[in-house]
Amino acid sequence: MSVGRLGTLTIALPSRQLNLHLYVAGAAAGTGAAAAAAGAPAATGSQPVPVIFLHAFPLNGGMWQPQLEAFSARGWTAYAPDLRGFGRTRPLPAAGEAVTPEMMAQDVVALLDHYRLPRAVLVGLSMGGYVAMAMARAFPERIAGLVLADTRASADAPETRANRERTATLALEKGARAVAETMLGGLLRPGAGQDEAEVVLSLASQNEPAGVAAASRGMALRPDSTDILARLDCPALVLVGAEDVITPVAVAESIASVLPRGQLVVIPQAGHLANLENPAGFNAALLSFLEESFAR
Ligand code: MLT
Repeated sequence: MSVGRLGTLTIALPSRQLNLHLYVAGAAAGTGAAAAAAGAPAATGSQPVPVIFLHAFPLNGGMWQPQLEAFSARGWTAYAPDLRGFGRTRPLPAAGEAVTPEMMAQDVVALLDHYRLPRAVLVGLSMGGYVAMAMARAFPERIAGLVLADTRASADAPETRANRERTATLALEKGARAVAETMLGGLLRPGAGQDEAEVVLSLASQNEPAGVAAASRGMALRPDSTDILARLDCPALVLVGAEDVITPVAVAESIASVLPRGQLVVIPQAGHLANLENPAGFNAALLSFLEESFAR
């Protein structure tokens, strides 16, 4: 993929034994990405705070295309990795393995280290939000700002946890697309168009069953993060689609009320995948937060 100042590349993260595939925009898609592709970490100097987009389950970094395009056009440097087990990131998890949000957060820290970035703004949607919260737990000093979209701070309820193993089995037996098909009614708002459904199914189809199964098991192991958010002293934004049925507006309100510096924006005409369903509304809220909070 190459659109304007967007690009993709794979970086080796030896400390994580991972080849991380990512979508990049802005300065990172220019000399920085080219240097990294050639094996040399980018020299970042005094570059402004970058933004790292963390994707939902069972999608991949490609879901952030509308944001990468908009952010690159406004001069932001942004990265959207395929989290461990997804997209073209390799190796895939072993059979029976669980890949937790905590493990994915460690990969994100290795990404920051690779580019010699002290801190970044994290934008995590749903599962990506779990990864951002795991990072807030273990590496708060690496977070300049936090955006939690269509996600929840609580751990899984017992019935959800049991369902994770069923989802893992479905992925292994029928593939990642089948998992997305069962979730589609929750991922998109009622009345979403067939074109939107196709985007979601196509992104899911790019994932390998082993990775989707491992992430499903891993999500079941995450702890409650409410206490972590209550201690997080950085600019924070909570976004939620007005018609999100997986993590409804009331859940977003409770997250925003816990964050010491949290603001809430409800995105109209959007369900759970608010960034894809109403990219203009999502981008406007996010850009306004970033431009108010981080002078460049
Ligand atoms: C997601 O969109 O990432 C999932 O709904 C997260 C989850 O299953 O908890």
